[in-house]
Amino acid sequence: MEISKNNNFPLELKDVEPETAELLMKYFTGEHTGFVRVGPKGYFLPHKYKQEASNIYNMEVRPDDIFVDSYPRSGTTWTQELVWLVANDLDYETSNAIPLTERYPFLEFSVFVHPVMKKRFYMENCDSERKLKLLEFVTQPATEQLALMPSPRFIKTHLPLSLLPPKLLDTAKVVYVARDPRDVAVSFYHLNRSMRTQGYVDDFKNYWNFFINDLHHWTPYFEHLKESWEKRHHPNMLFLFYEELSKDLPAAIRRVADFLGKTFTTEQLDKLCDHLSIDNFKNNKSVNYDVMRELGILIPNGQSFIRKGKAGGWRDYFDEEMTNQADKWMAKNLQDTDLRFPHLQA
Ligand code: A3P
Repeated sequence: MEISKNNNFPLELKDVEPETAELLMKYFTGEHTGFVRVGPKGYFLPHKYKQEASNIYNMEVRPDDIFVDSYPRSGTTWTQELVWLVANDLDYETSNAIPLTERYPFLEFSVFVHPVMKKRFYMENCDSERKLKLLEFVTQPATEQLALMPSPRFIKTHLPLSLLPPKLLDTAKVVYVARDPRDVAVSFYHLNRSMRTQGYVDDFKNYWNFFINDLHHWTPYFEHLKESWEKRHHPNMLFLFYEELSKDLPAAIRRVADFLGKTFTTEQLDKLCDHLSIDNFKNNKSVNYDVMRELGILIPNGQSFIRKGKAGGWRDYFDEEMTNQADKWMAKNLQDTDLRFPHLQA
């Protein structure tokens, strides 16, 4: 097993044991080399992360950067659009014209595109210059794109704070969004089946076991949340919950507006709520990741990126055994922290 460390990236990068990696690659067919665990918390990422770890950790952060950070499927896209529109004084014209993927480079996406898959996508799109350009753009290391982007920059990431530049919070703003892990798991299961970079091929029950045993990308889930939760009072951190957006979107928008120093009229708020509603989101080409389907990264006729958009849908997927397992797992992970999901409070 290879363990590496270098001067530009202080955390340990430890290869996942070959037998475990082999087994996982049978279920997650988008990965072809293996996986690593990073730092003392052992964050689980594809092998290719090793190439980008230091570039991300040492990237230049600008004071007017805005990062939207989350564990995947926690409402990142929803939050991104909300944050972008608030920060840009409700400029719907630009938000509708420029896809979210261009407005927000996805910091670590390139490490999820294994060279084998990248080659496959190239072959499949080689009849169109435009698609090849698009493919190059979405699979290029985002640190390279960001270095050339004018300010203010908007950045999407699913990395926990400890893998991001250490001065991030003292320099730029971070909006972190968290969601009930049971809904996250159901939603991420669907995405793992439709994204060919992940290529998950088994059922939900097995997936759930990978997820809670930290054998899945960006886990351990609770450590990810706790890192941001601990910084929630930092003036440059805004910590949101998906369930809070779901329950009272105008109040959540007001929190974002306060954080970014903006004020809006009731009419402006109403219009923004309408724009951000799940039905409008599904049909909004600028946010619904159609580009990924066009390039074949999302399977044709598969689950859409914007899916049901409701809180509590996990109940349809969990049998009694899994429900009990989830209760225990959540209680265990919440016992040493004051992190609480607002919708689970009495
Ligand atoms: P579901 O799969 O449970 O529907 P992310 O953007 O982090 O990948 O999160 C995706 C989840 O957020 C999906 O959850 C998606 O449907 C939901 N979502 C996206 N836009 C939404 C909106 N406007 N309103 C409610 N939920 C939304």
